[in-house]
Amino acid sequence: MPPILSFENVDFAYSDSPVLKNVSFNIKTGESIGIIGPNGGGKTTLLKLIMGFLKPTSGTISLFGKCPPFSVDAIGYVPQVSRFDRQFPISVFEVVLSGRLSRLPWYGRYRNEDYDAANAMLEKVGLSEFQNCAFGTLSGGQAQRTLIARALVSEPKLLLLDEPTASVDVHAEAHIYQLLRELQGNITLIMVTHDLSVAIDQVQRVLCVQGSVSSLMPKEVCEHFALGLYHTPLIRRGNQ
Ligand SMILES: Nc1ncnc2c1ncn2[C@@H]1O[C@H](COP(=O)(O)OP(=O)(O)OP(=O)(O)O)[C@@H](O)[C@H]1O
Ligand SMILES: [Mg+2]
Repeated sequence: MPPILSFENVDFAYSDSPVLKNVSFNIKTGESIGIIGPNGGGKTTLLKLIMGFLKPTSGTISLFGKCPPFSVDAIGYVPQVSRFDRQFPISVFEVVLSGRLSRLPWYGRYRNEDYDAANAMLEKVGLSEFQNCAFGTLSGGQAQRTLIARALVSEPKLLLLDEPTASVDVHAEAHIYQLLRELQGNITLIMVTHDLSVAIDQVQRVLCVQGSVSSLMPKEVCEHFALGLYHTPLIRRGNQ
C-alpha cells in the first residue's frame, strides 16, 4: 500500500531563516505518529507544510498520492489552542458545525446531515450539555475537545493535532487521550506533543523535529532521552 504521506528531501525557510533541512519520511495509512522536538524546532511548520498552507523551498511532499494543492477536507486540524481566538463570540455548537464548511455544496447552506454530525460529535467528546455556551467560557480541556470535535466532524482521513493537551489539567488530558485511542487504526493520526511519556505510550512511531527529522520507535525515544541526546541532532534512520 502506498504511504498516505511522504516527504522527500524537503527544505523549508521563512524568508532567509531555514527551519527544516533535507526532511524525508513516509507515513502509512492508519499509523499513529507522535512529533516531538524543542521549541522552535519546526513542528508546527511541519504540520503547515502537510496541510499545504506553506510550500517547501525545495523537495517534494505527497499526500494521498498527490502533490499539492491537497484536498483539505480530507484533513482534520486541531491548532495549538493558544493560537485560536477564544474571545470570538461563537457557540460551542457553531465551532463544531464550522468543521463541516469544507463539505458544503456550492450554494453553501448547512444541511440536516451537517447538524446531525455536529450533534453526534459533541456527544462523542462529552460536551452536549455545553453546546449553547460561548466558546470563550469553556475550560482549556473543554475548548480542546471542542476543537477536536470540529476537526473530526468532517470525517477526515488524516487528523493533525498540535499539542492537544497543552495547558489542560490531568483529568482533561486523560479524557483527550482516551478519545484519541478510540480513533486509532480508523484514522491516520499525527500529534505534536511535549510529553515524552505520551510519545512512548500513545503512538506507534515518533518523528523528532529539530531542523532535521528523525524517525524513532517509542522505545528509542526513551533511550535517547536517557542519554541526553534529545536536543542534539539524532542519527537519521533514512526513509521509513
Ligand atoms: N510565520 C513565521 N515567519 C517567520 N518565522 C517563523 C514563522 N513561524 C515560525 N517561525 C520560526 O520558525 C521556527 C520554527 O517554528 P515552529 O512554530 O514551527 O516551531 P515549533 O517546533 O512548533 O515550536 P513550539 O514548540 O514553540 O510550538 C522558529 O524559529 C519560529 O520563530
Ligand atoms: Mg508549535
